[in-house]
Amino acid sequence: MTITDDAPADGSTMAETVGEATTERIGDADWWRTAVVYQVYPRSFSDSDGDGVGDLAGVRGRLPYLHELGVDAIWFTPWYSSPLADGGYDVADYRTIDPVLGSLEEAELLIVQARELGIRTIVDIVPNHVSDRHAWFQDALAAAPGSPERDRFWFRQGRGVDGSLPPTDWESSFGGGTWTRTTDQDGTPGEWYLHLFAPEQPDLNWQNADVRAEHEDVLRFWFDRGAAGVRIDSAGLPVKDPSLPDMRGVSGYGAGEHPHLDRDELHDIYRAWRRVADSYDEPRVLVAEVWLADADRFAAYLRPDEIHTAFNFDFMTGPWRADAVRAVIDATLRSHAPVGAPATWVLSNHDITRPVTRLGRAETSFSFDAKRFGTPTDRALGERRARAAALLAAGLPGVLYVYQGDELGLPEVEDLPRESITDPMHFRSGGVDPGRDGCRVPLPWTSTGSAFGFSPDGASTTPWLPQPRDWGPLSVQAQSQDPSSMLSLYRSALRLRRAEPALRSERFSWVPQRASGVLSFARGDDLICIVNFGPHDHALEPDADILLASAPLVGGALPPDTAVWLRRRPGAAHPAPPETALHPSDQQRS
Ligand code: GLC
Repeated sequence: MTITDDAPADGSTMAETVGEATTERIGDADWWRTAVVYQVYPRSFSDSDGDGVGDLAGVRGRLPYLHELGVDAIWFTPWYSSPLADGGYDVADYRTIDPVLGSLEEAELLIVQARELGIRTIVDIVPNHVSDRHAWFQDALAAAPGSPERDRFWFRQGRGVDGSLPPTDWESSFGGGTWTRTTDQDGTPGEWYLHLFAPEQPDLNWQNADVRAEHEDVLRFWFDRGAAGVRIDSAGLPVKDPSLPDMRGVSGYGAGEHPHLDRDELHDIYRAWRRVADSYDEPRVLVAEVWLADADRFAAYLRPDEIHTAFNFDFMTGPWRADAVRAVIDATLRSHAPVGAPATWVLSNHDITRPVTRLGRAETSFSFDAKRFGTPTDRALGERRARAAALLAAGLPGVLYVYQGDELGLPEVEDLPRESITDPMHFRSGGVDPGRDGCRVPLPWTSTGSAFGFSPDGASTTPWLPQPRDWGPLSVQAQSQDPSSMLSLYRSALRLRRAEPALRSERFSWVPQRASGVLSFARGDDLICIVNFGPHDHALEPDADILLASAPLVGGALPPDTAVWLRRRPGAAHPAPPETALHPSDQQRS
């Protein structure tokens, strides 16, 4: 583990102060270890041309907003040409931008203009599958069984006497089976092809040399255009057991033995990607979406010659309880330390119920299987906890991910008209699963006006997903004027994160608390973050200055579901020695 001191090794200045320009960090090669990454879902961010769909020119127009918010990078969910069978995760062509969103020139301009403001761009790469409209898949359909074109995918004969049964019994995480039968040129039923997600997303065969070469070329295509990194979609899925074994009746798998998850051969692929990323003067970075229960298997992807960071889904999906949150933080730091990778702290994304809604429910954890749609939500409680969660996440060592709209405290939209829903998760569950569109509703920028400023004034079209009528007070405009708003809290937290070297260091240690339900940790010598998950007010030590609190303190005490960042005054008695020093840098410094 490198000990990142407060000054970067390349001598660039990191002397940002609160409210000043943020461009100093641009010369910092280790930027990705402590970055704040803002996730943009382009169709829902900002619509510049009034067609009701967000676009890249819309994002360009809002770069000053992102700059003021204080983010280091933007991760764009797929912006490529796509028939949108899965919100753009069905890519038809990696080298063109979907015309509804803009053009390649527009993307290049966006990358440059963002960079001028000190904001890097991360693009999304989906190695597991492509769209069924991708030229390769169309070629494969037109080609004969056994052809090189079909070998780029998983085409197989069906089972049963007439081949009418799918080649395996695997189930799709979108519901239903994972094989679709093709029709031959003469109209007779043909081979089946594999798709772990929707039928419009055929899985690629990563044993095929073309597939590897093409993806490395796509990486270079975007890196050459200034992308600072890629987010790797479904990174644990691309490699399959070529014998395609059935899964029903198998009670569990040994490490690396699952037919299509976390296969050992994946590491070779990502090592090759890392070599591509490292070949640039400013090395590019890789961030993986890996859902894995085994922390050591997860960390194996983060070895120094593989992927730089991966999303911490255990933190995102766990319940709002002190013991559970502490356990996740401990497990995260413990598993990342041996491979020297920074942790990431993720509260939500485009697939997950919005925190304000989720945290206001009796059951605060998240799982796709038990998506608690329609269960009552205490919005005020959810908002209070989401504010505390933001300070908790922003106070931890490593990378912070912010999903667009969470900085506004947008709730999940649970009453979308059925006809506006687009998510295949909804359709493939027969309408039982509400799908993920409720967290993808276009952002409100102004208190009034066309789609609350999402579309330009006077636009007659409505946004592609309708916004709730009461979103005016949640708009950027309304919240910017309110020092107690969620947006103001995020802005202050991210400014402090830049201004306080301790928050960008790797130093972390727990500070023991007598009260159960209260977590307290130190960053550096004197900065403390305390979160009260319990039902009672928690008295704060008197010899400290409050830097930021997620809700007003009550008589010097921290109310329930509230977090605070404070600084101990010089000479103040330590309440207790650090209880644990999980991080190597703590051990070396103590
Ligand atoms: C990832 C994406 C999700 C998409 C899926 C299939 O999990 O986050 O939105 O549906 O991959 O590409």
